[in-house]
Amino acid sequence: MKENIAKEGFNSKIGAIAAAAGSAVGLGNVWRFPYVLGQNGGAAFLLVYVLFMLLIALPVLMSEFSIGRKAGLPVLGAFQTLAPGKKWYLIGFAGVLCAFVILFYYNIVSGWTLMYAYLSATGQLASLDESQINQTFEQSSQDPVTCIFWMVLMLGATGFVVARGVEKGIEQYSKILMPILLILIIVVCIRSLTLDGASDGISFLLSPDFSKLTPRALFEALGQAFFSLSIGMGTMTTYGSYISKKQNLPQAALSVALLDFFIAFLCGLMIFPCAFAFGINPGQGAGLVFVTLPNIFNKMAMGQIFSVVFFLLLVVAALTSSISLLEVVVTFVKSQFGLKRRMSTLVSSITIGILGIGCAVSPTLFDFFDKISANVLLPLGAFFIVLFIPLRLGKKAVREEMEANGTPFKLFNVYYFLTKYIVPLAILLIFTNSILSWMGYGLFD
Ligand code: TRP
Repeated sequence: MKENIAKEGFNSKIGAIAAAAGSAVGLGNVWRFPYVLGQNGGAAFLLVYVLFMLLIALPVLMSEFSIGRKAGLPVLGAFQTLAPGKKWYLIGFAGVLCAFVILFYYNIVSGWTLMYAYLSATGQLASLDESQINQTFEQSSQDPVTCIFWMVLMLGATGFVVARGVEKGIEQYSKILMPILLILIIVVCIRSLTLDGASDGISFLLSPDFSKLTPRALFEALGQAFFSLSIGMGTMTTYGSYISKKQNLPQAALSVALLDFFIAFLCGLMIFPCAFAFGINPGQGAGLVFVTLPNIFNKMAMGQIFSVVFFLLLVVAALTSSISLLEVVVTFVKSQFGLKRRMSTLVSSITIGILGIGCAVSPTLFDFFDKISANVLLPLGAFFIVLFIPLRLGKKAVREEMEANGTPFKLFNVYYFLTKYIVPLAILLIFTNSILSWMGYGLFD
């Protein structure tokens, strides 16, 4: 199987790691994390999320990096080379399916983001009160024509970049723009934390109420950790193959995970104090960020400019993620059906667009694809990826790969124990638990 993701462009020492971080940081942090946390009761969810990040997601990320760098090939090739003639490469196919499913709804959310940049640029969000802001989101997100219009714009932009194979160019820009987004998030955080009534939001985020920890919350925390880190679908295996042998691999994984968590946490600090200050229901779902943020901007000096720049930078963050997701699908279509890059981009984008229209028309479908990709497909992918380590690669080979730069990995035995026993077991347990409770009250309600 040929994969065409070019290797050049990662000459700088931290280039590959920055690219992996760029894939991880996206709407998953700014949009998905606050809404899922809000629906699952706040602080107790956050605690579980941190645990899952450290004990489950981080070992998966380290495993993906090791597999990719050891093989020196993107995901499909990596599994084929390390386990020739075996079925492990199916992990790569599952990853393509997952990228495809994520794109159905991801473009809708990026579309909303672009729409909000437009609405603030044209002054349509300024001086609205909280109920009008709420109405604006409800009206536009429930209007299929509006949703489809913005979704098609974002999908078109993504397709344009992928068809021309210029994603490396975008990456250069995003290296400058993403730190600016981070600074803006911090500024907005400060404003949100100093609103009257912010303290209820802080305690929602920081004082745990364990009665809220349902089986579904565990399931969602796991899915969110995987989604946010882009793991469980082989993307990080591919990025691993770009990381130089001189890099400290465990440390690289740790930095990506810490940065990703830090940004998600900041977004929590940005959203919840404001949500509570304005009486917005934190569990209201996928619109949370869009009904909250405009209220903060309206309370800021030069809020309108802030709002436009913020949403535009968020569009860039979304675009870099959707480009790399579409890249996975296009590469697959190209090699499977022998199409040219432009043709496979066109075919993939049209299919994604049609299913995206389905999501724009039906919130149930939107939710279904959102939940099935993060909570079912990614954990399943991760389950097989970590099992590959003890079953196929072996302890010695992973250790060598992790320590290839000459620095001993002091916690290797902890990593290996987690990877061999705890991660697969935890995924299985959380799954079974959820399926059992599903029989009682429905998995996705
Ligand atoms: N992690 C991305 C985000 O937080 C979403 C994502 C999941 C992703 N898997 C991916 C992005 C693979 C790029 C490639 O928004």
